[in-house]
Amino acid sequence: MSRRLTTEIAGLRLANPTMLAAGILGFTGSSLRNAVEAGAGAVVTKSVGLTPRKGYPNPTVVQVDCGLLNAIGLPNPGVLHFREEVREVKEVGAPVVVSIYGFSSKEFAEVARAAVDAGADALELNVSCPHVEKTGAEIGSDPELVAEVVRKVKDKVDKPVFVKLTPNVANIVEVAGTAANAGADAIVAINTVRGMAIEVETTRPILANKIGGLSGPAIRPVAVRCVYEISREVNIPVIGCGGINTWRDAVEFILAGASAIQIGTAIASKGLGVFKSVTKGIDAYVLKKRFKSLKDVVGLAHSED
Ligand SMILES: Cc1cc2nc3c(=O)[nH]c(=O)nc-3n(C[C@H](O)[C@H](O)[C@H](O)COP(=O)(O)O)c2cc1C
Repeated sequence: MSRRLTTEIAGLRLANPTMLAAGILGFTGSSLRNAVEAGAGAVVTKSVGLTPRKGYPNPTVVQVDCGLLNAIGLPNPGVLHFREEVREVKEVGAPVVVSIYGFSSKEFAEVARAAVDAGADALELNVSCPHVEKTGAEIGSDPELVAEVVRKVKDKVDKPVFVKLTPNVANIVEVAGTAANAGADAIVAINTVRGMAIEVETTRPILANKIGGLSGPAIRPVAVRCVYEISREVNIPVIGCGGINTWRDAVEFILAGASAIQIGTAIASKGLGVFKSVTKGIDAYVLKKRFKSLKDVVGLAHSED
């Protein structure tokens, strides 16, 4: 693929701006590696914590109109059992971003240190999971707590730190601004939107956890709006995520201000070929519109502001 699409985020060099979103292909080194071999410019692992966690009973995922609803409960093997997987992906050359969570800022910092020791090229702080208590969005809804987590993590590691935000707050721009001021190197927007589905025959909520997170095309306009508003306020790169299926969707995020984009749910419907089709489409768009490189497209929707 052409140099036009080479993307740099906080010192990380991506061959193209597409990234695998957290949690979509799980943990195994081989599945993350498959995403790189299929054309992803970088991969984000499933979120990992200090100790192993089982997650919720089934059903944990349900298909709804225009997307998926999930409440998986952050199952993971714990960061200490993760070294081999990171090594396996790094062999194929693309940056590996390890998504981490913790139940306090101190724990976040401990997991961050262990993830970097395991070979992470960057960290993505999951302060946005909508369905596990005392972590994720419970931290991400409080700007001061987010700042504390960012500061503690930055004190412990010298790799880029991305902060992944929840849209389930009154003012996502305030949270993004506080994270940036605390030293975050990039903002990822957005994690899933809180949602619910009820089975009318049984009269019961479908997910075992009852409430989950909505992803896929249904949330794209919410995500584009968040990227647009955040990128107007912060001076660090914004990575767009939420409902990207095609190159047009990706370009929409880039015009809104995203320097790179993440793809999750589309992999379930389109397979890993989505990375190449999105990248090819973005490249053709850059050429057709006679831009020198993708950088010239970032944030263009703001130019009339
Ligand atoms: C099954 C599933 C598991 C997910 N697991 C995680 C996770 O572990 N950590 C995280 O930060 N986001 C997780 N997400 C959220 C995605 O990374 C992404 O933010 C969201 O799905 C919106 O993007 P999409 O519409 O392209 O899927 C998960 C999403 C799904 C559908």
